[in-house]
Amino acid sequence: MKRYAIILAAGQGTRMRSKLYKVLHPVCGKPMVQHVVDAISTLHVDRLITVVGFGAERVKEQLGNQSEYVIQEQQLGTAHAVMQAAPHLADKDGVTLVVCGDTPLITSETMEALLHHHLQTKAKATILTALAEDPTGYGRIVRNKDGHVEKIVEHKDATEEERKIREINTGTYCFDNRALFEALTKVSNDNAQGEYYLPDVIEILKKQGEIISAYETPMFEETLGVNDRIALAQAEKIMRARIHRKHMANGVTIIDPEHTYIAPDVSIGQDTIIYPGTWIEGHTVIGENCMIGPNSEIKNSRIGHNTSIRHSVVHDSEVGSDVTIGPFAHIRPLSKIGDDVRIGNFVEIKKATFGNRSKASHLSYIGDAEVGADVNIGCGTITVNYDGMNKYVTKIEDGAFIGCNSNLIAPVVVGSGAYVAAGSTITDDVPSQALAIARARQTNKEHYVERLQAKKKS
Ligand code: UD1
Ligand code: CA
Repeated sequence: MKRYAIILAAGQGTRMRSKLYKVLHPVCGKPMVQHVVDAISTLHVDRLITVVGFGAERVKEQLGNQSEYVIQEQQLGTAHAVMQAAPHLADKDGVTLVVCGDTPLITSETMEALLHHHLQTKAKATILTALAEDPTGYGRIVRNKDGHVEKIVEHKDATEEERKIREINTGTYCFDNRALFEALTKVSNDNAQGEYYLPDVIEILKKQGEIISAYETPMFEETLGVNDRIALAQAEKIMRARIHRKHMANGVTIIDPEHTYIAPDVSIGQDTIIYPGTWIEGHTVIGENCMIGPNSEIKNSRIGHNTSIRHSVVHDSEVGSDVTIGPFAHIRPLSKIGDDVRIGNFVEIKKATFGNRSKASHLSYIGDAEVGADVNIGCGTITVNYDGMNKYVTKIEDGAFIGCNSNLIAPVVVGSGAYVAAGSTITDDVPSQALAIARARQTNKEHYVERLQAKKKS
């Protein structure tokens, strides 16, 4: 049996009060609609179609070729949105999953269970329902005396009695594909919002004598629909806890989950400890036995094993094993730091390679540089990489020793094993094994103070 999926993502999201298209609002750093696509991806659907509207370009940029797209020019309701996929799907046999792009917490397990239930009950439509503590705003599931689903009534159209129903429509459904598209042609917009409601398909099919089924998930949390920023914060909290549980189950210690923020696609090795105030974003990979935080930010980076990163920022970079970073270091994009390295306090590294066992322990700027292995960079060293127009590269070869408070004016090479005397401003290449001293000689003016005082008296 062919499987199709349609994601509804064309709504303006008025209640978000945002210039950003609703389904692009991130939850734990990942856009809501991407969460939905990722959950669907494990279901192996034959075709995935996302219905997009205003702001479509940015959704397409986000999802790329993970989905096909249809445009809903005017947002006339969820039934109208699904209708836009008719040219692609209406004449196909199969089962179609419809999911809202604003339910980022839905899991593939739940959708798989819904599909299974749908096929087992031989229904033409199966609604994913849940029991809500507070059902305000959701469509309610109206059942007849025998407990069979009759219809879904939207909150705004519901009677006082119907509003007491706590079983809600989660906005995720399974349909017999042909039955869905046939029923859609019969949906009207005669309701409180003047919209074509997808849930009306249920009543239409029921009246035709078809089997309608409901699968109630015990996981109400998963079905949260994000219509405003309050729900966005709730979704963030639930997703964060889910991510933390996964890592803790894998043997990661999270000292204070309430104050730790890990993006969904981060991987962390066993026995790594995450201290409070830490943000780990993007596609970061962290090895085993690391100590991360407190108060650190790591984005799109790869970190080896046994590495510690305290009070520091690492972006779009690679860091090896047995490295200590911080406190208060900044590793900027495109840096590649080897093993057994030390990057100490107030050191900034940008677009630089930094070889094994090399050290920059304090107060340095190393930008656009190639630093070899076993290099010692003294306190206050600066690679002078920018002349106001262009950036240039500094090369520091293996085993070199850069004395404190040196300026290395790029382009320049310090050869292997060479020494740079403290306080030097190096403008010319330093040969391997040489000592470069580039500073004014010291002169001591003897008896200076005595002479000064004599002058004052006279
Ligand atoms: C919808 C359901 C409601 C259910 C709730 C679950 C309808 C009429 N109501 O209400 O029964 O309890 O979801 O969260 O379906 N969209 C379009 N085009 C449109 C309108 C909406 O693509 O013309 C998309 C939105 O981007 C959104 C989804 O459909 O992702 C749901 O629309 P929304 O306006 O959020 O519906 P709810 O009021 O939440
Ligand atoms: Ca919604």
